[in-house]
Amino acid sequence: MGDPFLMKNLMIASKRKSSTKKHWNSFWSSNTYPIYNLGNWVFWILFYKKFLQLIDLHDPDILELGGGIGGISYKMVEKMGGKITIVDYSQLAKEKSDNFFKNKNFSPRYIFSDIFNLKPKEKYDLVHSHGLIEHYVEAEREVCFARHVEFMKDEGYGIILAPTEGKGYNYFAKPLVKVLGLDTVSEVPLNQDDIKSFVELNPQTQLISVKKRFGWIGVLFQKNA
Ligand SMILES: C[S@@+](CC[C@H](N)C(=O)[O-])C[C@H]1O[C@@H](n2cnc3c(N)ncnc32)[C@H](O)[C@@H]1O
Repeated sequence: MGDPFLMKNLMIASKRKSSTKKHWNSFWSSNTYPIYNLGNWVFWILFYKKFLQLIDLHDPDILELGGGIGGISYKMVEKMGGKITIVDYSQLAKEKSDNFFKNKNFSPRYIFSDIFNLKPKEKYDLVHSHGLIEHYVEAEREVCFARHVEFMKDEGYGIILAPTEGKGYNYFAKPLVKVLGLDTVSEVPLNQDDIKSFVELNPQTQLISVKKRFGWIGVLFQKNA
């Protein structure tokens, strides 16, 4: 018998229908992705920059789960120094990422893996994702959150951004994704309290800040010592 946690993850990975490598390769083949990348700048201004003002990190080891291009992680390194590890299972995302970092005098470490199968060899000062957890539901969603915590060092930080139910999502975030032709992967927006309760119910984590903007929610949390 293998590790029960890993067995559960493998079972989840094998049953997954709506968010597979194939769906994500189709997402990254869209030629509207540069506009999507502009969206990362908006997320940076509205969420990440504000969260990073609340914590004291220098030269951190950063892990981005479902990191795609890695654009937001790069902004973090510009601000705080440090190193980036990106985990993603889409070949096309990696190609777009290589292109993005080509002229940057900096390259991230890129791990090709399903986040549900990745074994935690290293721990990180900051683990984050944006646009990942809403593609999983029920048990998958819980495990997806738990994966962030698993890779965090003691006293390390976590940031998760995802769309949330409500008018902002129905009238702004969802139509925008559709217009851009980026709705190739199904998603279920989070209930406003879901993500907060993942953090609050986990005995290893404490909530530091929650922000809601234009149909998205972001949480900043810390792993206990
Ligand atoms: C909406 S995109 C977000 C991309 C990224 N945050 C960025 O700025 O470029 C979600 C990414 O998560 C990846 N992804 C989704 N599920 C995954 C999984 N189980 N394991 C690894 N990567 C996954 C997809 O391939 C995709 O690149």
